[in-house]
Amino acid sequence: MKSLKLSHEATGLPEPPPGDRPLPTRRTLLDKLGIGAIVASTVGLGYGFLRSLVPNVLYEPPRRSKIGSPERFPEGATYLEESRLFIFRDQRTFQAMSAVCTHLGCTVKMVTLNQPQTVEVRGQRMQEQREFHCPCHGSKYYGDGTNYAGPAPRPLARYRLDVTADDGQLVVDLSQPVDRNFRLTV
Ligand code: FES
Repeated sequence: MKSLKLSHEATGLPEPPPGDRPLPTRRTLLDKLGIGAIVASTVGLGYGFLRSLVPNVLYEPPRRSKIGSPERFPEGATYLEESRLFIFRDQRTFQAMSAVCTHLGCTVKMVTLNQPQTVEVRGQRMQEQREFHCPCHGSKYYGDGTNYAGPAPRPLARYRLDVTADDGQLVVDLSQPVDRNFRLTV
């Protein structure tokens, strides 16, 4: 036998109170979940599209920067914490060497030797008074930055130094690595 469902307006009967209304069926719930998923994926796609309009820019500290006048630097080594650099002065000549370990980037520490030591680096004998040790995984570098122990794969980087024409300050250029024989004479 066919059952016929009539609306309350058609029958003229009053609507049941809210508490007596039938519970949503499983199908109704699934319909609502489906609509929710569509809305969520549309919002996600919209966000992805808007994000793609904004360029990915990595803001890094400037590669070329003034580090002060030559008189600022005493004889020997000076560590510049902000740029993680050692500046070496020998009378009128200057060199810049990175303090960034070439293994995983920790900051190496300068170790002053109790007595000068003679070491052989690339076939050349060299007297050194200091070394650089990395506290993270034990890499060690001779005084000229050459790695000799631990996992460091290469020497500490050296960078070009210049003097500005306008105010005579030293300028280090981190985009220009130089070899260990580079010296700036002022
Ligand atoms: S970061 Fe220097 S030894 Fe690993």
